[in-house]
Amino acid sequence: MTRGLFVAFEGIDGSGKSTQAKRVADALSALLTFEPGDTKLGGALRQLLLHDGDVEPTSRAEALLMAADRAQHVETLIEPALAGGQMVITDRYSASTLAYQGFGRGLSLAALGDVLDFATSGLRPDLTIVVDCDLDVARTRSSGTKADRLERLDPSFHQLVRDGFLELAANDSSFVVIDGNESLAAVTSAVDLAFATRLGIEVSSS
Ligand code: TYD
Repeated sequence: MTRGLFVAFEGIDGSGKSTQAKRVADALSALLTFEPGDTKLGGALRQLLLHDGDVEPTSRAEALLMAADRAQHVETLIEPALAGGQMVITDRYSASTLAYQGFGRGLSLAALGDVLDFATSGLRPDLTIVVDCDLDVARTRSSGTKADRLERLDPSFHQLVRDGFLELAANDSSFVVIDGNESLAAVTSAVDLAFATRLGIEVSSS
């Protein structure tokens, strides 16, 4: 059995990454998953991390809870699907912890890297697509939805996160950056091009 390919979509809130992750997963009949929260344990952690007004995790606690969510996600959902030959597309993965808790909160990237290796047993995506966009474009796109605890942080935090994703991408050849400021059609073609050139996979039939 050939192992399935593993692809992560990353970016700041409102970048449009979730739309692309869903579209590609549908087109390729891949398993679509997300973080934080796509397991029963993860759902409880997501509530604590993002929506419980009484809970204010410290940066380290936030990083470890994100990592705990990921550990459960990898072992119970992602790894079994990959081992069974299925492609897995995840909406956020380890780069989100490095960007938000590392670049955003200022935690050590090296320490976080060790935590993430432990949490994931070293599982890394074959391809990570960063949908990059300006903060004001992202804010306009997210304006209809209720902001969670991290989305409510000020623009300077989100700028650090955005720059963090770009720096991660600049230092890792398994990353591709797509310009998410463009129209939906242009972003779609850029994502499809990344699948074709990096993985040899045709997403759209047209
Ligand atoms: P997401 O589910 O993409 O947001 P939405 O529900 O608006 O689509 O992500 C939830 C938030 O969690 C987002 O602000 C980013 C943050 N996050 C981290 O800070 N670290 C992480 O490791 C992950 C996976 C997410």
